[in-house]
Amino acid sequence: MQSCEALLQKNKQWAKQKQEQDPEFFSRLATKQSPEFLWIGCSDSRVAPEIVVGAEPGEIFMHRNIANQVIHTDFNCLSVLQYAVSILKVKHIIVCGHYNCGGIKAALDKQRPDLLITNKWLMHVKNTYRLHQTEIDGLENEDDRLNRLVELNVIEQIHSLSHTSIIQNSWLENESPTLHGWVYGVHDGELRSLITLKPNDDINPIFQYQKISAE
Ligand code: CO
Repeated sequence: MQSCEALLQKNKQWAKQKQEQDPEFFSRLATKQSPEFLWIGCSDSRVAPEIVVGAEPGEIFMHRNIANQVIHTDFNCLSVLQYAVSILKVKHIIVCGHYNCGGIKAALDKQRPDLLITNKWLMHVKNTYRLHQTEIDGLENEDDRLNRLVELNVIEQIHSLSHTSIIQNSWLENESPTLHGWVYGVHDGELRSLITLKPNDDINPIFQYQKISAE
């Protein structure tokens, strides 16, 4: 267990070391950021995005929530998405889930009376379970059922991103960004790719924006 004092102490050492290695490091970052990636991940402390991909400050724009969800009524996530796509013009968006996700596990259980708000957030995961209930229930092992829903939830969020006006407009105007669905193994530290949607890949017509015709 670490105290907050210890964290501040470690930060001092880290900043000093960085500056010694590269005296311009912080002055370069102080004026602007131009990350190529937006990472949408789970809040879980075991998944440390920059660390697991060896990235430095300034390389990844970040949004995290329980079970790495892209919900169309969540202005927090959508604001991050809009800024990343329209202003930073990120080239890639990664939605990264992880095996043994506590959020997904909770979604496969009854609603807890002590987590009234979290229950509502996890309702979307429950709906993804219902969409794939036959496949998931067909798996014998409880861990396999959990981890398959982890994967299906990531895939669902990639589709969810492609249904936003932000992504569809950017695909049309900039042919960017590419959407990547990944899953991280908390047991082995490895990332696995589940799905990639490239700009202007086919999406279900009912989620497409109608093009405005010139009259
Ligand atoms: Co999680």
